[in-house]
Amino acid sequence: MERDRQENAKFLGDFDELFDIKNSTEELALVENLAVTPAEVYPISIESVMEMIFTPGEIYWKKKSGKLIKVLRAGEAVDVKAVTKFKERKMDLAIKWMSSTEMVDLVSGHFEQLKNAINELERVELRKKILEWFKESYWRADKKANFLDLTQIGEKVFYTFNEEMSEILKGTSQMIFERAALVGTIGVFSALALGHTDFKTLQDIYGLCYLFDFAFDKNSYSFNLNKATELERAAPGDGVAFLIVGEDTGPELGPFMQHTFRGARLARERCGKFFHSEGILKNITIHHERINGNGFPLRINEDEMSDVEELIIFLNSVIPYRCFNYELNDAKGFFKKIVYESEVFGLNESITKRFKKMIIKVMEGIGAEENPSPIPSIVEATK
Ligand SMILES: [Fe+2]
Repeated sequence: MERDRQENAKFLGDFDELFDIKNSTEELALVENLAVTPAEVYPISIESVMEMIFTPGEIYWKKKSGKLIKVLRAGEAVDVKAVTKFKERKMDLAIKWMSSTEMVDLVSGHFEQLKNAINELERVELRKKILEWFKESYWRADKKANFLDLTQIGEKVFYTFNEEMSEILKGTSQMIFERAALVGTIGVFSALALGHTDFKTLQDIYGLCYLFDFAFDKNSYSFNLNKATELERAAPGDGVAFLIVGEDTGPELGPFMQHTFRGARLARERCGKFFHSEGILKNITIHHERINGNGFPLRINEDEMSDVEELIIFLNSVIPYRCFNYELNDAKGFFKKIVYESEVFGLNESITKRFKKMIIKVMEGIGAEENPSPIPSIVEATK
C-alpha cells in the first residue's frame, strides 16, 4: 500500500509537470509577473466577455496610462457579476488570445456536421477527421497543442447548461467547474475513439462531467471536502482517511461517502432537462470507483463495468482537481501519455486493460490507412 502511494505521489509530480502546475508562491509570482506587451493584446468589448463561459485567453484591464492589469485568467469561468462591475466602471478590456480561433472553428464545424449527419457512413468519416486532428497534436505530438483549444471546442459545441445552473455549478467550486470543461472535452474525444458517434451521447458525456460532485453546494463544499476529493482521486482510500478525525468519524465523512448516490439523485431531479438521456446521470455514482475494487461506494470491478463507466473512472482518476495554468502548459502528446503511462506511474486501477487496448488501437490506427477506418467493436479490439 505504502509503495502504491509513493508511486501515486510520483505520478502526481509528473502530472504537475505535464500540466505545468505551479505550486510555490515564488513560481506563482513569476507567472503573474510575466509581462504582456500592448502588441500582444486586442481590444474586446465587455459584452463579448460576458457571453463567454470560459475565457479563450487572458483578459486585461487597459488603464488610461496604457498599463495592463490581468483581470481574468486563461480558461477562467467568467463571473458575470464581476464583469458587470467592469462595465459600471467603464473599464476598457483587452484580450491576449491563447486558443486558436481557426482551430476551434474547424473542429467545432466537424462536430456540428456530426450533429446533423444523417447516416452512419457520414458519421464514420467525420469521426475519422476529428480523431486525426486530435491525434496530430494530443497523441503524436507533431504540432503545438493547447489545452485551451479543447475547452473552447467543448464550450462551443457541447455546453447546454442555462445561466441559472451555470451559476449554481460555479458557486459550488469554480475550480471543479473549470476542471469539468477539460475533463468533459477529453471525455468526448475518448468516447469518439471508443466508437460513440451519436452526437447526443457525446453531448451527454460532456455534461455529465460537470455533475460528479453535484451533491455538494456552495454551503456544504468545504475546504476539507475539497482536499478529500483530490486525495481520494490520487489514491483511493486517502480522501476517506483524511476525513476521519481521531477515533471518531468526522462530520464530513458521511456526506462524502454519500455524495455519489445523492449526487445522481439530485442531478436527475434538477438537471435532467439538460440531457438527451437522463440515464447517463446514473454514472455519477461510479466516479470514485476503481477497477481493482478499491474505490467506493460499490467496489465494482473491471468485469462489471460498461465502456462509459470505464471512461468516467479513467477521466476522473487521471485529471487532478486543481486550477490549470493554461498560460504555460503544453498539451503536446498528453493524451498518449495518460493512456500509456498510467501503468508506469502506478495508476493501474484507473484504466481497464480493455479500455487501454481499445484506445491505443484506435489512436495508432487512425489516419494510418488509406480507407476510412471502420469503427472497431470493443470485442474486436480486445482480441
Ligand atoms: Fe466526488
